[in-house]
Amino acid sequence: MDGNGRWAQRRGMPRTAGHSAGSESFRRAAYYLKDLGVKYLTVYAFSTENWKRPPEEVSAIMSLLRKYLLESIEEMCRKNIRLRFLGDLAPLDGELKRLIERTDELSRQNDGMLVSVCLNYGGRAEIIRAAQALGRRCADGELRPEDVTEEALAAELYSAGAPDPDLVIRPGGEKRISNFLLWQSSYSEFYFTDTLWPDMDERELDKAIAEYQRRNRRFGGVK
Ligand code: IPE
Ligand code: MG
Repeated sequence: MDGNGRWAQRRGMPRTAGHSAGSESFRRAAYYLKDLGVKYLTVYAFSTENWKRPPEEVSAIMSLLRKYLLESIEEMCRKNIRLRFLGDLAPLDGELKRLIERTDELSRQNDGMLVSVCLNYGGRAEIIRAAQALGRRCADGELRPEDVTEEALAAELYSAGAPDPDLVIRPGGEKRISNFLLWQSSYSEFYFTDTLWPDMDERELDKAIAEYQRRNRRFGGVK
């Protein structure tokens, strides 16, 4: 969900106003995609590298998350959306962790759409964590090294339970992955757009989906 800061700066507003607009854009996108029949949506909210930002900005983003979880979980549940968080949640503040647990509990049964929010998430860190879990199981004699398959590793990723993404949309003009879903996106289609995240409305999402529908997916095979 890139481009919040620039969106605000272009309007002469503080970057945090952009994050606030970005959080509304997330709500709207989730509801729209659910109505279109999308079953899995994964968004990148905060990376393991985003802690490098000024502390005021980091705490503004965390406050917005708390606000979102407080205000929106009931509405998400009414829409039968399950909301879960992927990443290392340990360093987050207690109140946010509590709200995340509550969100997990309240929405666990919902099966209309699974929305995964990557928070303090890094793709490499996710793979390392999975490798360590498998390593421990091998050391315990529970698993043989030859049982370390793609499926076994994928089952230890934060994303376990969701299929690999068909389409990865990167708004905000940058053309890079930035440590997002490194393992899962090996055969995803990528859509890059200069549109800033707060401006990714229904029309812009439609454009990304239309482009995806024109892609010819071969997964390394031939047509
Ligand atoms: C993305 O918007 C949101 C987060 C990383 C939390 P940015 O804050 O990166 O916005 P730009 O890229 O500076 O415009
Ligand atoms: Mg950015």
